[in-house]
Amino acid sequence: MSLALDPAAQDLLFREAQTANTFTDEPVADEQIQAVYDLVKFAPTAFNQSPLRITLVRSQDARKRLVNHAMGANGPKTLAAPLTVILSVDLDFHEKLPRLFPALPDIKDTYFSEPAAREAAGTQNATLQAGYFILGIRAAGLAAGPMTGFDFAGVDKEFFGDGKQKSFLVVNVGKPGADAFFPRSPRLEFAEAAATV
Ligand SMILES: Cc1cc2nc3c(=O)[nH]c(=O)nc-3n(C[C@H](O)[C@H](O)[C@H](O)COP(=O)(O)O)c2cc1C
Repeated sequence: MSLALDPAAQDLLFREAQTANTFTDEPVADEQIQAVYDLVKFAPTAFNQSPLRITLVRSQDARKRLVNHAMGANGPKTLAAPLTVILSVDLDFHEKLPRLFPALPDIKDTYFSEPAAREAAGTQNATLQAGYFILGIRAAGLAAGPMTGFDFAGVDKEFFGDGKQKSFLVVNVGKPGADAFFPRSPRLEFAEAAATV
């Protein structure tokens, strides 16, 4: 009664959605990822800076280059997924601010002139966008397998040699395969996670 979203959508996005570890061979089309993006782009970010960049890893060569930087089971899992994306922060997101936040065109050169300020804000806001991206994947009837178990410095050298993008999450995407999910781990109850002051 407290939620506006219908119960089937609640299940699709949250209750029945889990992190997938295996996938079927069914391909994931660019159009599906574009449809996901066209929802997810409405996520709020500070000054609408929108620093998340999405790299679709499709070719066998690119897959192998990515997996060279994977830790443990993340490698085989990634090689077997129909699509893998690298999520990264555009460290030069400020260049687009005059278009994305026309109300304050000067912040490109005031707030965000320093690389360290851009990295801190960009990382926070791209991480928020990544959460929305996972939900968007679920909204497309697909499952996501997010992973931080990669050597991201190595991934950056491999794919973003110019130093302008910093990767922080690799996500396998597809229809869940056999034994795709680990048993659901418990979650904190509201009273443990929330406080009223
Ligand atoms: C930021 C992030 C990093 C993760 N890194 C890995 C990883 O490197 N390898 C892996 O197998 N699972 C990884 N996971 C999956 C989590 O363990 C999983 O989402 C969590 O236990 C919840 O599982 P559930 O969706 O089945 O409830 C990661 C998840 C997130 C959100």
